[in-house]
Amino acid sequence: MPIDYIEVLDPDSDLIADFHDNVLVEAFPDKYVREDIPILRKNVIIKNWTDGNEICRYHLFTACKDGRVIGGVSFYFFSFGSYAIGMGSYIGVRKEHRKGGIGRKLIDIRDQTLFADAREFDCYLKELVIQVNDPSLMKIEEIKNDSMDPWKREMFWRKRGYRKIAFNFIQPAIKPEYPPIEYLSLHIYPYVHELKDMKRISREELREIIYCFVKCTGTVGPMETDPSYLRMKSELAEQEYFAVI
Ligand SMILES: CC(C)(COP(=O)(O)OP(=O)(O)OC[C@H]1O[C@@H](n2cnc3c(N)ncnc32)[C@H](O)[C@@H]1OP(=O)(O)O)[C@@H](O)C(=O)NCCC(=O)NCCS
Repeated sequence: MPIDYIEVLDPDSDLIADFHDNVLVEAFPDKYVREDIPILRKNVIIKNWTDGNEICRYHLFTACKDGRVIGGVSFYFFSFGSYAIGMGSYIGVRKEHRKGGIGRKLIDIRDQTLFADAREFDCYLKELVIQVNDPSLMKIEEIKNDSMDPWKREMFWRKRGYRKIAFNFIQPAIKPEYPPIEYLSLHIYPYVHELKDMKRISREELREIIYCFVKCTGTVGPMETDPSYLRMKSELAEQEYFAVI
């Protein structure tokens, strides 16, 4: 039975709940890092927004087999006018279907979709940034409860050209009653040739990336007063460059 890769455009589609229940719950067992069904639906409803010269677009693709969602990827395209950045949200494949190339196909779809958006908005696609569980920041219990060995996950991305940014990233709480997440690190994948061997990233570039992430994934209150965002801003002020390792 072939696998169908479907972009979810209808917020009432059953694919959203299936993606959440079948894929996200297993792949992201820590409920505090996981968007719930109403948040996923809201993302699909909003889909596009603009603010000044910023253009943002949300995408959710599901991998379906025998009428069941077995994987998916969600991400944002974020343009500042002449250039754009891709921001990963979630990617997951059900355990029994892993190591068969579905993850790779979802990564290809993400790249192709971001390039298509960049063409549509007449800008160039600079880089993609994702949040990855960082085993060096995780407690033993968090490592034990993870859905895969976090060291292997880091290797998975590293082999594909993603590099960790040495910065203390904090994901602001995604619901008022949830805590912020402190064990994720940002990884960057440069699309432009000149950035392929980047060893460091400037404060201004990193500030922009963090701004995009927080604006896309949201904070429970106003961004300007969110404690996690404020903490990252003050850490940014301390260094001019941040290592990419
Ligand atoms: C990360 C994840 C999405 C990868 O999905 P996947 O479908 O297993 O990915 P792929 O099959 O494309 O690749 C996985 C491995 O299988 C190998 N593989 C792919 N096709 C294969 C095949 N036909 N036969 C044997 N091995 C194969 C790949 O080479 C890869 O190995 P590598 O990591 O050593 O390079 C999946 O492990 C997952 O859902 N993890 C939990 C959620 C998560 O951590 N998401 C990422 C958050 S940052």
